[in-house]
Amino acid sequence: MGHGTPFNMNLAGLVQSLLLLVHIKQLTCGSIQFVVPEELEPGTLVGTLGKLFQPPYKLLTQEYMWMDTNTGNIYTTEQKMDREFVCPEETKAEECIIPHSVVVGPSGDLIQFHVIIEDINDNAPQFENSEIHLRVSEDTAVGTSFLLDDQAQDRDIQQNGKLQYHLQGSEGTFTLNIGQDGFSIMLVVQTALDRETQELYKMQLVVTDCGAHPLSASAALIVTVTDVDDNCPSFSSDSPQTVTIQGDSPQNMVVTQVTATDPDTGPNAAIIYSLSPKVSERAKKLFSLDRRTGYIRLAQDLHSDKSEEVVLKVLASGPHCPPANTQVTVSVLPKANQELMIKVRSVEGSVIIPSRQVIKVLVADVNDNAPLFPVSHYQLSVEENNQPGMPLLQVSASDADSGNNSRVTYRLEKNTSAIFHIDSVTGQLSVSAPLDREQQDVHKLTVFAGDSGSPPLESQVTVIIRILDQNDNAPVFLTSHFIFFIPENVSPLSLVGSIEVKDPDEGENGSIELHVVNSTAPFVVDNARGTLRTTSNLDRETEDRHELHVLATDNGHPVALTSIVRVTVFVEDMNDNQPKVILPSSNSSCQTVSPGTLAGTVVAKIYAIDEDSGLNSEIMFSIVASEPAQKSSPFQVDLRSGNITLSQQLLPIDMGMHNLFVIVRDNGKPTPLYTTVWVNLLVNESLENCYLDRAPAWTGTSDLVQSPSKAPICKVEIIKYAQAIFITGLCMLLASASLLLVSTYLFLKNRSLRNNKNGHRGENMIPLRLKEKYLSEE
Ligand SMILES: *[C@@H]1O[C@H](CO)[C@@H](O)[C@H](O)[C@H]1NC(C)=O
Ligand SMILES: *[C@@H]1O[C@H](CO)[C@@H](O)[C@H](O)[C@H]1NC(C)=O
Ligand SMILES: *[C@@H]1O[C@H](CO)[C@@H](O)[C@H](O)[C@H]1NC(C)=O
Ligand SMILES: *[C@@H]1O[C@H](CO)[C@@H](O)[C@H](O)[C@H]1NC(C)=O
Ligand SMILES: *[C@@H]1O[C@H](CO)[C@@H](O)[C@H](O)[C@H]1NC(C)=O
Ligand SMILES: *[C@@H]1O[C@H](CO)[C@@H](O)[C@H](O)[C@H]1NC(C)=O
Ligand SMILES: *[C@@H]1O[C@H](CO)[C@@H](O)[C@H](O)[C@H]1NC(C)=O
Repeated sequence: MGHGTPFNMNLAGLVQSLLLLVHIKQLTCGSIQFVVPEELEPGTLVGTLGKLFQPPYKLLTQEYMWMDTNTGNIYTTEQKMDREFVCPEETKAEECIIPHSVVVGPSGDLIQFHVIIEDINDNAPQFENSEIHLRVSEDTAVGTSFLLDDQAQDRDIQQNGKLQYHLQGSEGTFTLNIGQDGFSIMLVVQTALDRETQELYKMQLVVTDCGAHPLSASAALIVTVTDVDDNCPSFSSDSPQTVTIQGDSPQNMVVTQVTATDPDTGPNAAIIYSLSPKVSERAKKLFSLDRRTGYIRLAQDLHSDKSEEVVLKVLASGPHCPPANTQVTVSVLPKANQELMIKVRSVEGSVIIPSRQVIKVLVADVNDNAPLFPVSHYQLSVEENNQPGMPLLQVSASDADSGNNSRVTYRLEKNTSAIFHIDSVTGQLSVSAPLDREQQDVHKLTVFAGDSGSPPLESQVTVIIRILDQNDNAPVFLTSHFIFFIPENVSPLSLVGSIEVKDPDEGENGSIELHVVNSTAPFVVDNARGTLRTTSNLDRETEDRHELHVLATDNGHPVALTSIVRVTVFVEDMNDNQPKVILPSSNSSCQTVSPGTLAGTVVAKIYAIDEDSGLNSEIMFSIVASEPAQKSSPFQVDLRSGNITLSQQLLPIDMGMHNLFVIVRDNGKPTPLYTTVWVNLLVNESLENCYLDRAPAWTGTSDLVQSPSKAPICKVEIIKYAQAIFITGLCMLLASASLLLVSTYLFLKNRSLRNNKNGHRGENMIPLRLKEKYLSEE
């Protein structure tokens, strides 16, 4: 121990030996992990607990995994582990972890392990839209780039989710440019565009992920080239035109239409037609021109007896364009006189009068009557578990015909269960096997009766067989071992869990009552709801687990049937115990420190215990204040171990008494609990024992605990799929198993010493039953 002589040798020795007896049941820090790729085939071996723990093994968390009860081997189930489904919320950097709990060994210890699911490239990238539309003006300069908003998504992570884009079918008109950030996709124009040459470009934007077996997706990229006014109207090739009209044509008759076109679109392509100012007065009087449609109509009725030729010059003008022109020559023919004659003829017919005759008809018997059942359906009830071959009932149908036309035979519908038979001649129905009501409580059969005529006629009837219940099923529990968790300190009659049990029988034969049998455990069954409830307060520090049996009885007659099931209730820890300081043994204990002590030496140590488990029992030490307050203390306390070390070489000014006010708190949720202790250190050459008449007094605030500091970080080591298991403190576990006997002995021996657990205990008295973990380092 060097300079760090303990406060009290005897006490320290006892504590040291006790520390070795700590029985660690739960490994709160350090963990068992299996790393597996997602989407494994059902039945793949993931790993085993068989090398670490004794059988049997009961996996409590059945999702995605099942465990061989005898070997501890863990296999995948039919339920596929899809990383993207299991961990949809996890960001790309986080691991996808499924925690599992398993009860192992004959004593039923609760162990936890983690399955880490690794990504495989099972998701192709996806575009939100299958078509991406972009509008680009035809006068866009070469080299201009356009941002494409439609980026693809890939649900996989890392390389499997990293995306690369390329363009297909652009034929050099466009290229892709990926922005500096690696995300923004730009479409770059490579050649001059002309909407009048090509208005639409259809390409494929292809995205590929960077997985080992890359997956890809594509979206149609459709670029529409929009118009600018870079064209003027022109008349089509069939102009100029020549039209001939009759000399007696009426007003408003369409003479012809002139059509000019402008390859631009929209307003850029608007065309206005007009007559040239140079046309003759006669033409202006005879014809009208529609400005928008280009229709040329007669402005008045024509009454022309002579041939005539009128020339029209038509202009087509567009915005910012010189007008295009064309010529229409209209030839007017002289008015002609013509009459049309229509001749209508009618056709005549003749009437046939029939002659009268007598016809003799000979009537023979034919099969015109089908067999007839006397009832619309037959109905009967039989008890289940009947003798094989039991007759059920006889059906019978009559046929009004005679001879072979009335000879009736019976048959069952083809798809009828093979256990039913019918005698084809007598119609006797029978069943060849015992019936089971729990399998099927009603059988509906269709029986056909057919005569032997040619062709035969048939009719059918339904037979309904109801199966009556017998008490032939005992209650069945959903599982052979119910495991429940309940926090300690819940009020009496709190719900523990549902004991799910079924009896497929009917009525009283299937109604179940549950009872806790031959157990003193504080539980009772609420038969109205089939649940287990507590009868008194539970204290984890007294009993962290209860074993009981529940008996299910049906109300069947003449004999009730029963089943029994094992129930284990684990009592979960609540932070209901504050840490207890064992060393120093009192606030007025004192320790002498030599002025020559080297910096870094452990000069004293605080031992504390917490009877809770897990985080609730993790203890942390910190100095709140120190005396003398004027100068900074040369002593420091280690947060976890409680070691008090000399942080710097002692100076003459440091001689004398140092009082450190130390807060000792657990890491419990929701509120940490704490206690305080004074550590008194006397720096003096003479290494005699030092004494304090009374404890120093704390004058600061009583609210000492700030927000809980962060939970301890467990160093996690990952082991590859289907390999062995990493476990911290394995040797501690093995040691604890062999030492359990000794601690149990000590516990029993000292049980009488331990009265009210929340009551006051003498400061020098060491609780001999240390549950779970002792948080000092050794
Ligand atoms: C009636 O049917 C049986 C069997 O098909 C046949 O042997 C017999 O000749 C038939 N009788 C008549 C009168 O058709
Ligand atoms: C037998 O077939 C008929 C129709 O062909 C169907 O309505 C009936 O449900 C079937 N019965 C069984 C027991 O499958
Ligand atoms: C229960 O089973 C017995 C025979 O085991 C039977 O007699 C009785 O009718 C059944 N009760 C009901 C409600 O089906
Ligand atoms: C409690 O009852 C079960 C089932 O009847 C039995 O197996 C077990 O031995 C009994 N335990 C005690 C302590 O009597
Ligand atoms: C605490 O001090 C003991 C010696 O008293 C030493 O063995 C142990 O390693 C120290 N722990 C820490 C965390 O410094
Ligand atoms: C050191 O101890 C001696 C003897 O007990 C005592 O006389 C002396 O005053 C102490 N020195 C200091 C600085 O307390
Ligand atoms: C030391 O004194 C504080 C009050 O100042 C008290 O809360 C604490 O329980 C005492 N510790 C011991 C070990 O006596």
